[in-house]
Amino acid sequence: MPTIGFDDCVAVIRANDIGNYTVPTHGLYPFQWNWDSCLTALGQAHFDEARAWTEIDTLFANQWEDGMVPHIVFHKQDDGYFPGPEVWRTNRPTPTSGITQPPVAGFAVRRLFERAKDRSLAEERARALLPRIHAWHEWFFRCRDPQGSGLVAILHPWESGRDNAIDWDAALERVPTDGVMPFTRRDLLHADPDHRPTQAQYERYIALVQLFRGLGWKNETLHHASPFKVVDPGFNAILFRSCADLADLADELGEPTIATSARARATTGVEALEGLWSDECRQYLCFDRSIGERIDSHSVGGLLSAFAPIPAQRAADIAARIQELANVASFLVPSHDPTDHRYDGRRYWRGPTWLIVNYMIADGLSTARQKTVAERIVADSLRLIEESGFAEYYDPQTGEPCGGGRFTWTAAIAMEFLASSQGAQ
Ligand code: DGY
Repeated sequence: MPTIGFDDCVAVIRANDIGNYTVPTHGLYPFQWNWDSCLTALGQAHFDEARAWTEIDTLFANQWEDGMVPHIVFHKQDDGYFPGPEVWRTNRPTPTSGITQPPVAGFAVRRLFERAKDRSLAEERARALLPRIHAWHEWFFRCRDPQGSGLVAILHPWESGRDNAIDWDAALERVPTDGVMPFTRRDLLHADPDHRPTQAQYERYIALVQLFRGLGWKNETLHHASPFKVVDPGFNAILFRSCADLADLADELGEPTIATSARARATTGVEALEGLWSDECRQYLCFDRSIGERIDSHSVGGLLSAFAPIPAQRAADIAARIQELANVASFLVPSHDPTDHRYDGRRYWRGPTWLIVNYMIADGLSTARQKTVAERIVADSLRLIEESGFAEYYDPQTGEPCGGGRFTWTAAIAMEFLASSQGAQ
C-alpha cells in the first residue's frame, strides 16, 4: 500500500492555488499554464468540484477571439520568469503568450462531468465550456492544418509541451537565430541547468516568438510563415481524444451539431495518424512538414498516441513496445528511448519520466484492454512519488526527482492513480 495519501496531494495543490487558477510550481512557473490547469482540475475535483471547474473557466476566459487558447496566461507581473508578457506582446486584456498547448481540455471536462457529484453545477459549467472547447479544436484544423490532411502541426516546440524533445532537434536547427534579442533566462535560477533545455535551444525558441510577434500574431498566416512545422503524433492524439470526448459530452448535453462535427474530426484524425505509424519502430513517428519527411526519433510522443481511439492492433503494438522499454528503464515510461545515444535521463523531455504522460498512456491502454502494461505504468508512477516526492519529472533509471519541486499536476495525477488503485482493490 502506498504511504503517500490523498492529503499529501491536496497539500501540494492547495499550496500552489492562487485563487481562481493554480501555478504549476512557485518560482519556475509563476503563471497559469494551459494543459497544467486542465490536468490539475482532475485532482481538484477529488476534494472541491467547484474549484476544479473554476480552474478551467479561468483558462477559457482568456481564449482568443479566433478560438485559440493560449499556453500561458500572465495573470500578474512576475520577474522570475522569462519570456514574460513584454516579450510576447500579444496585446490582450490579460496578457497571454501567443502560442497554444496540447488540448487536453475536452478530455478533462468530460471526465469532470461524468464523475461529478454536483450534477447541476457540472451541467451548467460543461454546457458553457462545450462551444468554447469546440471552437478551439476547430481553430486547430483551420490554422494548423490548412491543407486539410487531418493532422495538425505545432509551430513552436513549447506547443507540444515536450519542449526540448529530441524529435525537434533537426527542425529547430533550421530556425535562424540572427537578430535574436539578447535575453537572460530565469529558469536556471530555479532549476538545475542540467535538467533544462540548452541555451542554443532557447535562442531558437525566442527567434520563433520574435518571428510570430513580427507577424502580429495573426494565426492564419503563421503556419505558412513558420520555419518550424512539425506534426507530433502525441499532440494529435490528445486532440483526437478530446474531440471524441467532446462529441460524447455534446451528445449527453443535447448538442448534436457539435457532437457530429467533433466525432468526424476524431475519426478522420485517427485515420490520418495511420500515416505516421512505423512497423520498424513499432510506434508512431513525428513528421517534419517543412521538408516533408518523417523524423527518426523514438520518443514518448509516438507512444502517447495510445491516448486516442487508435486501432486495437496499434494499442497492442504500443503496449509491447513499452514492455520492451521496461528492460532498459526502471521506471516507465521514459520520454525517449534509453538506448538512443541522444537520450539524457535528467534533461526535461530528452529521457525523464513524466506522470502526466504516464497517466494518458495508461488510460488509453487500459481502455484498449492492455491492462498488464497499464497497471505496470501506474505502479511505477506511484513508486516514483513514494521514493522521490511530487517532482516535475524523474530520471527513469534512478527515480531521482528532476526539475521543479512540489509540482501541481504531479500531485493531481497521483490522486488519479491512487483513486484508480484503490478502486481496483
Ligand atoms: C518553460 O518556460 O519552460 C515552458 O515549458 C514554456 O511553456
